[in-house]
Amino acid sequence: MSGHVPVLLPEVIDALQPQAGGVIVDGTFGGGGYAMRVLAHADCRLYGIDRDLDAITRAEKLAADEPRLVPLMGRFGDMDALLLNTGVPHVDGVMLDIGVSSFQIDQGERGFSFMRDGPLDMRMGQTGPSAAEVINTMSQDDLATVIYQLGEERQSRRIAKVICERRTETPFTTTLDLAETIENAVGGRRGKKTHPATLTFQAIRMFVNDELGELARGLAAAERMLVPGGRLVVVTFHSLEDRLVKRFFRDRSGGNGGGSRFMPEKAAGPTPTFDLVSRKAIEAGPDETKTNPRARSARLRAGIRTTAASWTAEVDTGVRVPNLSTVEEAA
Ligand SMILES: C[S@@+](CC[C@H](N)C(=O)[O-])C[C@H]1O[C@@H](n2cnc3c(N)ncnc32)[C@H](O)[C@@H]1O
Repeated sequence: MSGHVPVLLPEVIDALQPQAGGVIVDGTFGGGGYAMRVLAHADCRLYGIDRDLDAITRAEKLAADEPRLVPLMGRFGDMDALLLNTGVPHVDGVMLDIGVSSFQIDQGERGFSFMRDGPLDMRMGQTGPSAAEVINTMSQDDLATVIYQLGEERQSRRIAKVICERRTETPFTTTLDLAETIENAVGGRRGKKTHPATLTFQAIRMFVNDELGELARGLAAAERMLVPGGRLVVVTFHSLEDRLVKRFFRDRSGGNGGGSRFMPEKAAGPTPTFDLVSRKAIEAGPDETKTNPRARSARLRAGIRTTAASWTAEVDTGVRVPNLSTVEEAA
Protein backbone atom coordinates (compact mmCIF):
# COMPACT_ATOMS: atom_id res chain seq x y z
CA MET A 1 0.00 0.00 0.00
CA SER A 2 1.36 3.44 -0.89
CA GLY A 3 1.68 6.08 1.81
CA HIS A 4 0.29 9.58 2.16
CA VAL A 5 2.59 12.43 1.11
CA PRO A 6 1.96 15.38 3.44
CA VAL A 7 1.34 18.67 1.66
CA LEU A 8 2.85 22.07 2.63
CA LEU A 9 4.75 20.40 5.48
CA PRO A 10 7.46 23.09 6.11
CA GLU A 11 4.80 25.80 5.78
CA VAL A 12 2.60 24.05 8.37
CA ILE A 13 5.50 23.86 10.86
CA ASP A 14 6.38 27.50 10.19
CA ALA A 15 2.78 28.62 10.80
CA LEU A 16 2.29 26.38 13.87
CA GLN A 17 5.63 27.17 15.55
CA PRO A 18 5.52 24.27 18.03
CA GLN A 19 7.57 24.94 21.17
CA ALA A 20 9.25 22.69 23.75
CA GLY A 21 6.84 21.87 26.57
CA GLY A 22 3.81 22.74 24.42
CA VAL A 23 0.65 20.73 23.71
CA ILE A 24 -0.30 20.30 20.06
CA VAL A 25 -3.41 18.72 18.53
CA ASP A 26 -3.34 17.12 15.10
CA GLY A 27 -7.07 16.79 14.35
CA THR A 28 -6.44 14.77 11.15
CA PHE A 29 -3.65 12.32 12.03
CA GLY A 30 -3.89 10.26 8.79
CA GLY A 31 -0.45 8.75 8.21
CA GLY A 32 1.15 10.95 10.88
CA GLY A 33 3.23 13.00 8.41
CA TYR A 34 2.48 16.33 10.09
CA ALA A 35 2.44 14.87 13.60
CA MET A 36 5.84 13.18 13.42
CA ARG A 37 7.44 16.29 11.89
CA VAL A 38 6.07 18.42 14.75
CA LEU A 39 7.52 15.98 17.30
CA ALA A 40 10.87 16.02 15.48
CA HIS A 41 10.83 19.83 15.51
CA ALA A 42 10.00 20.47 19.18
CA ASP A 43 9.96 18.52 22.43
CA CYS A 44 6.19 18.80 22.86
CA ARG A 45 3.24 16.48 23.48
CA LEU A 46 1.00 15.70 20.52
CA TYR A 47 -2.60 14.45 20.58
CA GLY A 48 -3.34 12.74 17.25
CA ILE A 49 -7.07 12.61 16.51
CA ASP A 50 -8.61 10.64 13.64
CA ARG A 51 -12.09 9.22 13.07
CA ASP A 52 -10.64 6.36 11.00
CA LEU A 53 -9.70 3.21 12.93
CA ASP A 54 -6.91 2.41 10.42
CA ALA A 55 -5.28 5.81 11.11
CA ILE A 56 -5.54 5.27 14.87
CA THR A 57 -3.97 1.81 14.49
CA ARG A 58 -1.05 3.45 12.63
CA ALA A 59 -0.82 6.11 15.38
CA GLU A 60 -0.76 3.43 18.09
CA LYS A 61 2.11 1.63 16.34
CA LEU A 62 4.08 4.89 16.16
CA ALA A 63 3.19 5.74 19.77
CA ALA A 64 4.77 2.48 20.95
CA ASP A 65 8.17 4.06 20.17
CA GLU A 66 7.14 7.68 20.75
CA PRO A 67 5.61 8.30 24.19
CA ARG A 68 4.98 11.99 23.39
CA LEU A 69 2.32 10.92 20.86
CA VAL A 70 -1.18 10.23 22.24
CA PRO A 71 -3.66 8.78 19.69
CA LEU A 72 -7.33 9.70 20.17
CA MET A 73 -10.07 8.04 18.13
CA GLY A 74 -12.90 10.45 17.27
CA ARG A 75 -13.89 13.50 15.28
CA PHE A 76 -12.03 16.78 15.46
CA GLY A 77 -15.41 18.54 15.68
CA ASP A 78 -15.55 17.03 19.19
CA MET A 79 -11.92 17.85 20.01
CA ASP A 80 -12.73 19.79 23.16
CA ALA A 81 -14.73 16.88 24.64
CA LEU A 82 -12.06 14.34 23.53
CA LEU A 83 -9.27 16.40 25.09
CA LEU A 84 -11.14 17.31 28.27
CA ASN A 85 -11.87 13.58 28.82
CA THR A 86 -8.11 13.02 28.66
CA GLY A 87 -7.52 15.79 31.22
CA VAL A 88 -6.32 18.39 28.72
CA PRO A 89 -8.10 21.73 29.32
CA HIS A 90 -6.28 23.83 26.72
CA VAL A 91 -3.66 23.54 23.99
CA ASP A 92 -0.93 25.60 22.29
CA GLY A 93 -1.56 24.58 18.70
CA VAL A 94 -4.13 22.87 16.48
CA MET A 95 -3.56 21.67 12.94
CA LEU A 96 -6.17 20.35 10.51
CA ASP A 97 -5.38 18.81 7.11
CA ILE A 98 -8.85 18.48 5.63
CA GLY A 99 -10.07 15.69 3.37
CA VAL A 100 -9.25 12.05 2.75
CA SER A 101 -5.82 10.45 2.96
CA SER A 102 -4.14 8.49 0.17
CA PHE A 103 -4.46 5.41 2.44
CA GLN A 104 -8.24 5.77 2.26
CA ILE A 105 -8.46 6.53 -1.49
CA ASP A 106 -6.02 3.78 -2.45
CA GLN A 107 -7.95 1.02 -0.71
CA GLY A 108 -10.77 -0.01 -3.06
CA GLU A 109 -12.62 -1.70 -0.20
CA ARG A 110 -13.15 1.66 1.55
CA GLY A 111 -15.36 2.71 -1.37
CA PHE A 112 -13.97 6.24 -1.93
CA SER A 113 -12.62 5.80 -5.44
CA PHE A 114 -14.38 5.75 -8.81
CA MET A 115 -11.21 4.16 -10.23
CA ARG A 116 -11.13 1.08 -7.99
CA ASP A 117 -14.04 -1.25 -7.44
CA GLY A 118 -15.29 -1.74 -3.93
CA PRO A 119 -18.41 -1.54 -1.77
CA LEU A 120 -20.10 1.87 -2.00
CA ASP A 121 -19.14 2.97 1.52
CA MET A 122 -17.06 6.21 1.70
CA ARG A 123 -17.27 6.53 5.49
CA MET A 124 -14.05 7.68 7.17
CA GLY A 125 -15.36 6.38 10.49
CA GLN A 126 -17.36 3.21 10.77
CA THR A 127 -20.65 4.81 11.87
CA GLY A 128 -23.60 6.49 10.16
CA PRO A 129 -25.16 5.86 6.75
CA SER A 130 -22.89 4.62 3.96
CA ALA A 131 -22.75 6.08 0.45
CA ALA A 132 -24.91 3.15 -0.76
CA GLU A 133 -27.60 4.03 1.80
CA VAL A 134 -27.54 7.67 0.65
CA ILE A 135 -27.60 6.79 -3.05
CA ASN A 136 -30.33 4.13 -2.70
CA THR A 137 -32.76 5.90 -0.34
CA MET A 138 -32.52 9.69 -0.67
CA SER A 139 -35.21 11.50 -2.67
CA GLN A 140 -34.24 12.61 -6.17
CA ASP A 141 -34.52 16.30 -5.19
CA ASP A 142 -32.34 15.88 -2.11
CA LEU A 143 -29.76 13.90 -4.07
CA ALA A 144 -29.63 16.62 -6.73
CA THR A 145 -29.20 19.26 -4.00
CA VAL A 146 -26.29 17.35 -2.41
CA ILE A 147 -24.57 16.82 -5.79
CA TYR A 148 -25.05 20.48 -6.75
CA GLN A 149 -24.15 22.07 -3.39
CA LEU A 150 -21.20 19.87 -2.41
CA GLY A 151 -19.94 18.89 -5.88
CA GLU A 152 -20.81 22.11 -7.71
CA GLU A 153 -21.82 19.69 -10.49
CA ARG A 154 -23.83 21.51 -13.15
CA GLN A 155 -25.52 18.30 -14.32
CA SER A 156 -26.72 17.43 -10.80
CA ARG A 157 -30.43 17.12 -11.74
CA ARG A 158 -29.75 14.80 -14.66
CA ILE A 159 -27.36 12.63 -12.60
CA ALA A 160 -29.85 12.38 -9.70
CA LYS A 161 -32.65 11.41 -12.12
CA VAL A 162 -30.60 8.65 -13.77
CA ILE A 163 -29.45 7.30 -10.37
CA CYS A 164 -33.04 7.17 -9.10
CA GLU A 165 -34.33 5.45 -12.25
CA ARG A 166 -31.58 2.84 -12.14
CA ARG A 167 -31.92 2.05 -8.44
CA THR A 168 -35.60 1.05 -8.82
CA GLU A 169 -34.35 -1.91 -10.89
CA THR A 170 -31.21 -2.79 -8.92
CA PRO A 171 -29.89 -0.86 -5.91
CA PHE A 172 -26.28 0.35 -6.12
CA THR A 173 -23.74 -1.62 -4.12
CA THR A 174 -20.37 -0.89 -5.76
CA THR A 175 -18.28 2.16 -6.68
CA LEU A 176 -17.67 1.21 -10.31
CA ASP A 177 -21.37 0.55 -10.92
CA LEU A 178 -22.17 4.09 -9.70
CA ALA A 179 -19.24 5.62 -11.63
CA GLU A 180 -20.35 3.97 -14.89
CA THR A 181 -23.98 4.99 -14.38
CA ILE A 182 -22.89 8.63 -13.90
CA GLU A 183 -20.59 8.44 -16.92
CA ASN A 184 -23.51 7.20 -19.07
CA ALA A 185 -25.86 9.82 -17.58
CA VAL A 186 -23.68 12.69 -18.80
CA GLY A 187 -22.99 11.13 -22.20
CA GLY A 188 -19.52 9.64 -21.61
CA ARG A 189 -16.16 11.33 -21.18
CA ARG A 190 -16.25 13.54 -24.31
CA GLY A 191 -12.53 14.24 -24.15
CA LYS A 192 -12.71 15.54 -20.56
CA LYS A 193 -9.52 15.29 -18.51
CA THR A 194 -11.35 14.32 -15.32
CA HIS A 195 -13.71 11.38 -14.90
CA PRO A 196 -17.39 12.46 -15.21
CA ALA A 197 -18.10 10.99 -11.76
CA THR A 198 -15.43 13.08 -9.97
CA LEU A 199 -17.71 15.83 -8.65
CA THR A 200 -20.58 13.50 -7.73
CA PHE A 201 -18.23 11.18 -5.79
CA GLN A 202 -16.76 14.19 -4.00
CA ALA A 203 -20.24 15.46 -3.09
CA ILE A 204 -21.44 12.09 -1.75
CA ARG A 205 -18.22 11.65 0.26
CA MET A 206 -18.51 15.12 1.78
CA PHE A 207 -22.17 14.47 2.63
CA VAL A 208 -21.63 10.98 4.10
CA ASN A 209 -18.90 12.34 6.40
CA ASP A 210 -20.59 15.73 7.04
CA GLU A 211 -17.22 17.23 6.16
CA LEU A 212 -18.27 20.89 6.12
CA GLY A 213 -20.21 20.52 9.37
CA GLU A 214 -17.16 18.88 10.97
CA LEU A 215 -14.90 21.69 9.72
CA ALA A 216 -17.25 24.35 11.11
CA ARG A 217 -17.42 22.59 14.51
CA GLY A 218 -13.66 21.92 14.49
CA LEU A 219 -12.78 25.58 13.97
CA ALA A 220 -15.09 26.65 16.82
CA ALA A 221 -13.69 23.91 19.09
CA ALA A 222 -10.12 24.98 18.34
CA GLU A 223 -11.05 28.56 19.20
CA ARG A 224 -12.31 27.35 22.60
CA MET A 225 -9.26 25.14 23.31
CA LEU A 226 -6.38 27.41 22.27
CA VAL A 227 -4.50 29.49 24.86
CA PRO A 228 -3.77 33.16 24.03
CA GLY A 229 -0.85 33.09 21.59
CA GLY A 230 -1.80 29.54 20.51
CA ARG A 231 -1.95 28.82 16.80
CA LEU A 232 -4.57 27.30 14.50
CA VAL A 233 -3.32 26.03 11.12
CA VAL A 234 -5.76 24.69 8.52
CA VAL A 235 -4.95 23.15 5.12
CA THR A 236 -7.83 22.62 2.68
CA PHE A 237 -8.06 21.18 -0.84
CA HIS A 238 -11.52 22.29 -1.90
CA SER A 239 -12.94 25.74 -2.59
CA LEU A 240 -16.01 25.23 -0.34
CA GLU A 241 -13.71 24.34 2.55
CA ASP A 242 -11.27 27.16 1.90
CA ARG A 243 -14.17 29.62 1.71
CA LEU A 244 -15.42 28.44 5.11
CA VAL A 245 -11.97 28.75 6.71
CA LYS A 246 -11.34 32.14 5.06
CA ARG A 247 -14.67 33.49 6.32
CA PHE A 248 -14.02 32.10 9.82
CA PHE A 249 -10.63 33.81 10.08
CA ARG A 250 -11.92 37.01 8.47
CA ASP A 251 -14.82 37.26 10.94
CA ARG A 252 -12.80 36.16 13.97
CA SER A 253 -9.99 38.61 13.21
CA GLY A 254 -12.38 41.56 12.96
CA GLY A 255 -12.09 41.73 9.17
CA ASN A 256 -15.87 41.83 8.84
CA GLY A 257 -16.17 44.71 11.30
CA GLY A 258 -17.57 47.11 8.75
CA GLY A 259 -17.15 50.38 10.61
CA SER A 260 -19.27 51.93 7.90
CA ARG A 261 -21.53 54.79 8.92
CA PHE A 262 -24.26 53.05 6.93
CA MET A 263 -23.90 49.82 8.89
CA PRO A 264 -22.80 50.94 12.36
CA GLU A 265 -24.13 47.77 14.02
CA LYS A 266 -21.61 45.68 12.03
CA ALA A 267 -18.75 47.49 13.74
CA ALA A 268 -19.92 46.32 17.16
CA GLY A 269 -19.26 42.55 16.78
CA PRO A 270 -17.62 40.42 19.47
CA THR A 271 -13.92 41.06 20.16
CA PRO A 272 -11.59 39.36 17.62
CA THR A 273 -10.33 35.96 18.75
CA PHE A 274 -7.56 35.58 16.14
CA ASP A 275 -4.77 37.62 14.55
CA LEU A 276 -4.02 36.38 11.06
CA VAL A 277 -0.60 34.83 10.33
CA SER A 278 -0.97 36.04 6.74
CA ARG A 279 -3.81 37.82 5.01
CA LYS A 280 -3.65 35.62 1.92
CA ALA A 281 -3.74 31.82 1.80
CA ILE A 282 -0.33 30.14 1.56
CA GLU A 283 -0.03 27.88 -1.50
CA ALA A 284 2.47 25.22 -2.60
CA GLY A 285 5.40 26.31 -4.73
CA PRO A 286 6.27 24.88 -8.17
CA ASP A 287 8.75 22.32 -6.78
CA GLU A 288 6.09 20.75 -4.59
CA THR A 289 3.30 20.81 -7.21
CA LYS A 290 5.63 19.18 -9.72
CA THR A 291 6.26 16.18 -7.48
CA ASN A 292 2.85 16.06 -5.79
CA PRO A 293 -0.09 17.14 -8.01
CA ARG A 294 -2.44 17.00 -4.96
CA ALA A 295 -0.60 20.07 -3.64
CA ARG A 296 -1.94 22.23 -6.47
CA SER A 297 -5.27 22.81 -4.78
CA ALA A 298 -3.89 23.11 -1.22
CA ARG A 299 -4.52 26.35 0.71
CA LEU A 300 -3.07 27.01 4.16
CA ARG A 301 -4.62 29.59 6.49
CA ALA A 302 -3.51 30.23 10.06
CA GLY A 303 -4.33 32.45 13.01
CA ILE A 304 -2.92 33.29 16.44
CA ARG A 305 -5.40 33.20 19.32
CA THR A 306 -5.97 36.51 21.10
CA THR A 307 -7.04 36.85 24.74
CA ALA A 308 -10.70 37.49 23.80
CA ALA A 309 -13.44 35.08 24.90
CA SER A 310 -14.58 32.53 22.28
CA TRP A 311 -17.60 33.52 20.23
CA THR A 312 -20.79 31.69 21.07
CA ALA A 313 -22.36 31.79 17.56
CA GLU A 314 -22.06 28.59 15.51
CA VAL A 315 -19.79 28.71 12.47
CA ASP A 316 -21.89 28.63 9.27
CA THR A 317 -20.90 26.02 6.68
CA GLY A 318 -22.08 28.30 3.86
CA VAL A 319 -24.11 25.53 2.15
CA ARG A 320 -27.63 24.19 2.69
CA VAL A 321 -27.95 20.42 2.28
CA PRO A 322 -30.42 17.90 3.76
CA ASN A 323 -29.61 16.58 7.23
CA LEU A 324 -27.52 13.38 7.18
CA SER A 325 -29.62 11.97 10.05
CA THR A 326 -32.66 11.83 7.70
CA VAL A 327 -30.97 9.11 5.63
CA GLU A 328 -32.21 5.60 6.44
CA GLU A 329 -29.55 3.20 7.61
CA ALA A 330 -30.05 -0.44 6.61
CA ALA A 331 -31.10 -2.55 9.62
C1 LIG B 1 -5.51 14.45 4.47
S1 LIG B 1 -5.46 13.22 5.69
C2 LIG B 1 -4.31 13.84 6.86
C3 LIG B 1 -2.89 13.48 6.54
C4 LIG B 1 -1.90 13.86 7.61
N1 LIG B 1 -1.78 15.30 7.77
C5 LIG B 1 -0.52 13.28 7.31
O1 LIG B 1 0.43 14.06 7.21
O2 LIG B 1 -0.41 12.06 7.18
C6 LIG B 1 -6.97 13.46 6.54
C7 LIG B 1 -7.23 12.52 7.68
O3 LIG B 1 -8.19 13.17 8.51
C8 LIG B 1 -9.16 12.25 8.91
N2 LIG B 1 -10.39 13.02 9.14
C9 LIG B 1 -11.13 13.67 8.22
N3 LIG B 1 -12.14 14.30 8.81
C10 LIG B 1 -12.04 14.04 10.14
C11 LIG B 1 -12.79 14.43 11.27
N4 LIG B 1 -13.86 15.21 11.17
N5 LIG B 1 -12.36 14.03 12.49
C12 LIG B 1 -11.25 13.25 12.62
N6 LIG B 1 -10.52 12.83 11.58
C13 LIG B 1 -10.91 13.23 10.35
C14 LIG B 1 -9.26 11.24 7.81
O4 LIG B 1 -9.74 10.01 8.30
C15 LIG B 1 -7.82 11.17 7.32
O5 LIG B 1 -7.12 10.15 7.98
